[in-house]
Amino acid sequence: MDASMRTKSRSNKPKYSRFTQQELPAWKPILTPKWVITSFVIIGILFTPAGLLCLWASEHVVEIMDRYDEDCLPKPFSSNPDSFIKSKNTNKTCVRTLKVPRKMTAPIFIYYQLDNFYQNHRRYVKSRSDKQLRDPDDADETDDCKPKNNLNGNNDEPIVPCGLVAWSLFNDTYKLYKGNNAIDIDKKDIAWESDKKFKFGSEVYPKNFQKGGLIGGGQLDESKPLSEQEDLIVWMKTAALPTFRKLYGKINIDLEANETITFVIQNNYNTYEFGGEKKIALSTANWIGGKNDFFGISFLTIGGICFFVAINFILIYVLKPRPLGDPAYLSWNRNQGAQ
Ligand SMILES: *[C@@H]1O[C@H](CO)[C@@H](O)[C@H](O)[C@H]1NC(C)=O
Ligand SMILES: *[C@@H]1O[C@H](CO)[C@@H](O)[C@H](O)[C@H]1NC(C)=O
Repeated sequence: MDASMRTKSRSNKPKYSRFTQQELPAWKPILTPKWVITSFVIIGILFTPAGLLCLWASEHVVEIMDRYDEDCLPKPFSSNPDSFIKSKNTNKTCVRTLKVPRKMTAPIFIYYQLDNFYQNHRRYVKSRSDKQLRDPDDADETDDCKPKNNLNGNNDEPIVPCGLVAWSLFNDTYKLYKGNNAIDIDKKDIAWESDKKFKFGSEVYPKNFQKGGLIGGGQLDESKPLSEQEDLIVWMKTAALPTFRKLYGKINIDLEANETITFVIQNNYNTYEFGGEKKIALSTANWIGGKNDFFGISFLTIGGICFFVAINFILIYVLKPRPLGDPAYLSWNRNQGAQ
């Protein structure tokens, strides 16, 4: 009796649990034809109208765009644009007229668009000092900015903001007229609120900016802290693609269809040197943002593919039905049949 009890307590039988015994509940769907066809049809039904809605919204955004870098270069300089841009004595003013194709409702956004400008180049993106932009005590943190870090390359006077990104600040300016009346361009709140609050200090003032040697782009107002230099903040949010658009300002009046508007452009920025292009764009916006057919087209594509697959399955199901789970279709059974 003693012996039998000992064997019992030494038994190797594991403790029972539903996990070790693989008895946990599981979902084992059987993909019947009806089930599969229904799900494809439902996805198609959801995505097609969503795609149409997105296309419709994008279609309602009114956009005007004008490339001006070539036309704003006076004829005598066409073979030597550098001398035009770099000279202090040339007249950089350029007048462009555009016609409003459809009524545009305020707010209307004004963008500049650059093409063939690689703001995403590794050495360009890294050429900035976020510490310095944020904190007045970190003006000396300019190591990441070399060679655009110190005035004349000596170590005494840091440039604020330092680095290539800031140095190449876009510096064309635009004025807008309807008939003879100037339209106010609102340049407030064009940058991200979070950038103004956390990334660009309200006590950091530009110092030595665009002072040493070659001028790369725009100047900054030395009496304003960086958190209020919204053009700079917008510019320093580097673009991921070589063609990009940045917000220049907003106008808060409606423009009627067929109205002519006049841009007076100061053509300062040197894109000629690297074969870039400059464009100005006016655009309205709605819930989908600016003009963008991407979502519409991709949703329609998904919907279309789902309907196409569903129709094919229906046809196969109707024309060549076969019983569910018929073992005769298993490969080893089939091979046996062939032998
Ligand atoms: C504008 O930037 C260009 C370089 O792209 C520079 O040569 C020019 O001096 C700048 N002009 C002004 C008015 O800031
Ligand atoms: C704009 O001009 C076109 C053709 O010139 C004309 O058909 C259309 O009615 C005009 N629209 C308005 C709102 O004046």
